[in-house]
Amino acid sequence: MEKRWWQEAVVYQIYCKSFCDTNGDGIGDLGGVISKLPMLKELGINCIWFNPIYKSPQVDNGYDISDYQDIEPSFGTMEQFKELLDKAHAMGIRVVMDLVLNHTSDQHKWFQESRKSKDNPYRDYYVWRAPKENGKEPNNWGNYFYEGRGSAWQFDETTGEYYLHNYSVKMPDVNWEYEPLRQEMYKMMTWWLDLGVDGFRLDAINRLKKPAGLPDSKMPPAPPVGIYGYVVDRAICTNVPGIHELLRTINKEVWSKYDCMTVGECGNLSSDGALDYISQGNNEIDMLFHFEIGKNPNIITVNEYKQTQQRWIDLMQHNAWITQFLTNHDSARQVSRFGNDQQYRVPSAKLLATLIHTMPGTPFVYQGEEIGMTNVHFDTIDDYDERYTVGKYYTAVEAGEDPEVALSRLRPTSRDNARTPYQWDDSENAGFTTGKPWIKVNPRYTEINYAADRASKDSIFEFYKKLIAMRKTNPAIIDGDFKFLLMDHPQMVMYLRKCARQTLLVVCNFSDETVPVQIPAELEGFTWERLLTNREETAPSLERRDNWLPWEAEVYQVKL
Ligand code: GLC
Ligand code: CA
Repeated sequence: MEKRWWQEAVVYQIYCKSFCDTNGDGIGDLGGVISKLPMLKELGINCIWFNPIYKSPQVDNGYDISDYQDIEPSFGTMEQFKELLDKAHAMGIRVVMDLVLNHTSDQHKWFQESRKSKDNPYRDYYVWRAPKENGKEPNNWGNYFYEGRGSAWQFDETTGEYYLHNYSVKMPDVNWEYEPLRQEMYKMMTWWLDLGVDGFRLDAINRLKKPAGLPDSKMPPAPPVGIYGYVVDRAICTNVPGIHELLRTINKEVWSKYDCMTVGECGNLSSDGALDYISQGNNEIDMLFHFEIGKNPNIITVNEYKQTQQRWIDLMQHNAWITQFLTNHDSARQVSRFGNDQQYRVPSAKLLATLIHTMPGTPFVYQGEEIGMTNVHFDTIDDYDERYTVGKYYTAVEAGEDPEVALSRLRPTSRDNARTPYQWDDSENAGFTTGKPWIKVNPRYTEINYAADRASKDSIFEFYKKLIAMRKTNPAIIDGDFKFLLMDHPQMVMYLRKCARQTLLVVCNFSDETVPVQIPAELEGFTWERLLTNREETAPSLERRDNWLPWEAEVYQVKL
């Protein structure tokens, strides 16, 4: 396929609210991002994805947008955004915005108008339905935020109808069936692209199309929340027939006119259904995020990891490109979830990075991964902020679960694990703010922070720098074929990347144990030169190796 800039990019995801605060209000801001651009430049990334920074009541930390064409005041101003964009561009860093097309805030002027009367010109910007004869909600859907405690429909007194909100009650779903809404969205996206942004991460993009007639979900309501009768069926509004036609239309009207990147968040999508979205000839979206790696939180075997990667990498044979990431702002921290955040925190953080940066596809780094930030363990539910954790907690407790048990169950998967402030140094509040941070700092900041990492001879940041730099000088990383070796080995992840000019070998011991390995016969007869290791103490030779240290990760190339 014809090479596009985002295939060579390394994307760094910034959760602005938790990155760096410059005015002491406890909230990260654009000034903070501007001040850290040199650090990002040094890291070597060449694209930033901003979680939503639009004007927003912050019910869902910015995913509830009240004005698509303004900056959230607690983050900064449009002037500052333009300054940031210019500075980033001058450094060779592109900027991608998070775009929420499935819903807006209930404070958005479209919704304010829409709810006023049935004949308001904005009425059909949203999904309104009359109550059932018994006054009840139009169907049995439960919203995602309250785990079946709440309907996906909210009754609105003024007009006596219900509006649809798959997420929070303060985030009504918009109606993509209505042409004027589409036109507004095209205009808005065009405005950002004309301003100079380089693309979009598309929130919940495979959920824009709702099933015809909005039928009841057939899925049984799961206990204990079954008592409310609402069904949280994320599949029912996902990948609905017609979604592809809709994406092709948006692509034609907007994205195709710019050299921009689009990466869609696609929950409830397996590799089977993915090609329709990302096959270049389809002209829909460029790449997508799937959630098939580690679907069951915290549990993934090395074999499952390899099989899943193989299925997605196979799609690349069909004129498609994939993403490489393990976690983001919606999940636990990768070193806690897939690595070992205690004894082997440093080598396991480096191993996970090695996989992300040397597998086929575009790597995405979530802020803090480059210094090995870990999950947080808050003692009380009051210290948690994000809606899923809080909603699930109260649902469970209401249904009779012991509060302590519920909290220990929810901690490992809470999205707040990834949302605590960036740990810059070991001063109060980890150097994130001089004020009171909007969410507590992870107490491990005295040990794990940017300054300490940079001062360490074992720096994770330095390792990321090397990996990112390698991408620029080793053609096999971007263009090479891919082949797993030792596919059935329960601990080792080993693969070849091969293009006309280069052969690379990646060897990772994805475990806490020292693993003896017979080097596969097909690697014999070449001279292997070590390009990178996270275990400097081992000898730089493949031939003499018969065992691999816990979390050891290395990259070799065939010496010509
Ligand atoms: C996506 C976002 C998540 C948000 C949700 C609703 O999943 O990544 O953070 O809560 O959409 O917009
Ligand atoms: Ca601030």
